[in-house]
Amino acid sequence: MKKFADRLIKWGIKEGRTTLPWKDKINGSYDPYKIWVSEMMLQQTRLSAVLPKFNQFIRIFPNVEKLANSTLEDVIQVWAGLGYYRRARNLHEGAKIIVNERGKIFPKNAADWKKIPGIGMSTSAAISSFVNGERVALLDANVCRVLCRRYCLENTNSRVKEKEQLMHLATNLLPKKKSEMAQYSQYIMDLGAIVCKASKPACYKCPVSEDCKSFNSEAVNLYPKKLKLTRREKQITWILTIDRDLILLERQNKEELWKSLLVPATELKMKGNSPLPRKKFLGSYQIKVSNCDLTVNVWKRDCIFDTLKLTTHHRIVNKIMISKVPVPRLLEKVLKDFDFCSNSS
Ligand code: ADE
Repeated sequence: MKKFADRLIKWGIKEGRTTLPWKDKINGSYDPYKIWVSEMMLQQTRLSAVLPKFNQFIRIFPNVEKLANSTLEDVIQVWAGLGYYRRARNLHEGAKIIVNERGKIFPKNAADWKKIPGIGMSTSAAISSFVNGERVALLDANVCRVLCRRYCLENTNSRVKEKEQLMHLATNLLPKKKSEMAQYSQYIMDLGAIVCKASKPACYKCPVSEDCKSFNSEAVNLYPKKLKLTRREKQITWILTIDRDLILLERQNKEELWKSLLVPATELKMKGNSPLPRKKFLGSYQIKVSNCDLTVNVWKRDCIFDTLKLTTHHRIVNKIMISKVPVPRLLEKVLKDFDFCSNSS
């Protein structure tokens, strides 16, 4: 039987993702900037959602200097729609580090990539195996699933010992040649996403099923063991301050949730300290944000903005512009539900 890596690569060349826009080669190598941007986008977002955003991002920020010299606001603006905005802040921060502190030289190995904000074990391994051909195993959720099934492990990759076990097994499967690392890393992720899927795995298409322990014992669905997340509950209040077709927003800087986005302004004061107009309850929204069940209670206050004490933190946004500024998706929905958004948006 051929080696695992050989069978995987042969499969990947035919069935894997071979036409990703960040994988155009220049002089035989990948552009580290494009690989880095794509891996940051892929951290919490599906490939189909990343593809159009990646092209737009590269059009606007074609290289690391352009990104470093842009404002965070511009970066967040282009990121809008991908969610998890901390990744955009990390990319911007990372670009400034690469340009201002590392002489525009990208890291040369996974250990160095990890020093760039927002890059952990899995992302650093993916980037460095693509860009530097480094023989380092990546362990994202797809790859963990492939390994757990291959070796009949209940491993959830959540404890140090479990991570060490998976890393050891993953490292033993790597191809010997550096020149095969880029293909290997891509195709092992692809195998997990396309064939060894979490539900309804397509083992009949699998190039490495022959020596897969769980396949051979008809127990594929038992692995890996599912992790039960403990969920937290949280309530927040939004008061929409509205003057005809204008809404008053401010940048979220203190809270982690929706950090850097524009959210309804809080703690407003009237000029002359007279009381604020009464607020009216609009409704409650329930959403899930990572491991948190969030209830957002929404109120509305009609106000003439000239009567308010506004600061430089406030942003007045007109209803036509609301789809063009970085706001939480929930706020867009609320504003649509209450007919604030213009029909053209
Ligand atoms: N997830 C993370 N990195 C990926 C990549 N390069 N291709 C597909 N899915 C991924």
